[in-house]
Amino acid sequence: MCGIVGILGLTAAVPRLMDSLKRLEYRGYDSAGVATVSNVELGRRRAPGKLSALADVLAATPLEGNSGIGHTRWATHGEPTINNAHPHMTDRVAIVHNGIIENFKALKDELTATGVSFEGDTDTEVVAQLMTSYLNDGSSPRDAFSQTLSRLQGAFALCVLIKGEDNLMFGAREGSPLVVGLGDGENYLGSDAMALAGLSNQLIYLEEGDWVELTRNQFQIYRADNSPVDRDVSFSQVAATMIDKGNHRHFMQKEIYEQPTVVAQALGRYLDPINGCVKLPDISFDLAAVPKITLVACGTSFYAAQVARYWIEQIARVPVDVDIASEFRYRDPVYTDGGLAIFISQSGETMDTLSALRHAKAAGQHIASIVNVLGSTMARESDLVMPIHAGPEVGVASTKAFTCQLAVLAAFTVQLASANGAINETQVANYVAELEHAPALMAKILSADAQIEAIAQDIAGARDILFVGRGIYYPIAMEGALKLKEISYIHAEGYAAGELKHGPIALIDDNVPVIGIAPKGVLSEKTVSNLQEIMARKGKVVLFSDDETPPAGMYAHVSMPSAGDLISPILYALPVQLLAYYAAVEKGTDVDMPRNLAKSVTVE
Ligand code: F6R
Repeated sequence: MCGIVGILGLTAAVPRLMDSLKRLEYRGYDSAGVATVSNVELGRRRAPGKLSALADVLAATPLEGNSGIGHTRWATHGEPTINNAHPHMTDRVAIVHNGIIENFKALKDELTATGVSFEGDTDTEVVAQLMTSYLNDGSSPRDAFSQTLSRLQGAFALCVLIKGEDNLMFGAREGSPLVVGLGDGENYLGSDAMALAGLSNQLIYLEEGDWVELTRNQFQIYRADNSPVDRDVSFSQVAATMIDKGNHRHFMQKEIYEQPTVVAQALGRYLDPINGCVKLPDISFDLAAVPKITLVACGTSFYAAQVARYWIEQIARVPVDVDIASEFRYRDPVYTDGGLAIFISQSGETMDTLSALRHAKAAGQHIASIVNVLGSTMARESDLVMPIHAGPEVGVASTKAFTCQLAVLAAFTVQLASANGAINETQVANYVAELEHAPALMAKILSADAQIEAIAQDIAGARDILFVGRGIYYPIAMEGALKLKEISYIHAEGYAAGELKHGPIALIDDNVPVIGIAPKGVLSEKTVSNLQEIMARKGKVVLFSDDETPPAGMYAHVSMPSAGDLISPILYALPVQLLAYYAAVEKGTDVDMPRNLAKSVTVE
């Protein structure tokens, strides 16, 4: 959602805040703003729209000061106007916030009744005014901050600057992540390791309910009950240079083409090719005894979960439930004693998935998470963490995180099946060898991208596009549709190929391209028959398949390498990503920051 950063520095804050906001812009880009303390005065600059708009404002009206806070916004309460942009400021404090203050209406009414007026519609402004009222009543900055926190309900990460205090900053975390960065005579706050890359690699992840008081040389963390607490320092491996487009036009393009490398990297952490086995991180429970697995995630990560269901049921013969995280706890799921719940999330912070994790944890399930961000909340609250090692993913549309999630889920499946005796040593070794082969095949697919680019250019004018697949390729069809709609704004749906005749086929005419995902196998003939039904109704069919003799009459056939059943879904993720990417480029949309979206969704 929103990105926040705070710097108590020894040099000008604004260029450093802007640098950090650039790395945080993936979290939201509806508006941006910074505030500093200079000569005891608070100063602020804000602009609706992307960070470049704020850069223009700052060029015209620079802001001095070595202490500052910054914000990039994904709008929740109030439109993305300048008045609703953060920081929110009074004559005493400036505040940036990520999350939602659920009781803001009651607080606003209370403050309005005392004569306070508000310039915008955000929940955050209420926090600034509330803290100001405590300061005006004579509270010290520390007391005013803790009094304010005690009144807030909801999910928030906050960072606060105070007029007249160039060497003081407060931060708080409740439901939304916040990290303290330690520097040399400087200290920082940020939404994540990306915010602080280039500033600090010594990080302290605040726990739920924690708040912190910082000066340049000191900091003290407090629990929600205001008792002081020490939290561990961890070392971030995120370097500022990792967040760079290189020679690519977009981060998404870079991340698509990185996939052979990062999937190899991820597999390298989980496979032992010499001994032909899988090595998972230490597990505190008996994997062989797990009676049922629950997979929970959102969006693209949910499609990874759906693919994994096929693997786990077919290879390890363990029953699997798959749920969309935002629905999970509200259906009051029936858990099986000793069950394992696995939460899949690139960011490890998605509120829906985190809430589902806590629900399963409270019910006594074993908790595993598959995340890209190591210090994330989900990772910290899990019994077993399986990192995907994809490196920072900046493009809002997830690509390399998806294939790395699949790689890790595939390795997990093999280990589970080996542990519970569903497969023997030879089968394990064969699966390991198959997985090892995936990066080379991925590279081969990417090197033949020109054909997909041409197809994308041809179909980019369509209003609707359908993706179809059967079995394990059905979730890949849904992922293809999601990718296309989120970055090209073309309406797309993914269907189980056999389901078309039960309704969606009514949509087909010569203006509706249909993308068929049908590698050779037990279900491919059936999928191809469904595609024939589409062609008979003048539908324009594009087939992704390793079948070199597809039926006549296709609009296009993209030849894929043949591969085993385990890695095939990973491979077929690539052409659907490329198709979406090139269609979006053809349409001229903002590929890395599609409208209305944000990368890390920390609200329900
Ligand atoms: C789509 C996309 C989203 C995310 C979803 C979950 O390209 O990126 O659908 O997959 O918001 O995010 P994480 O995996 O961070 O929990």
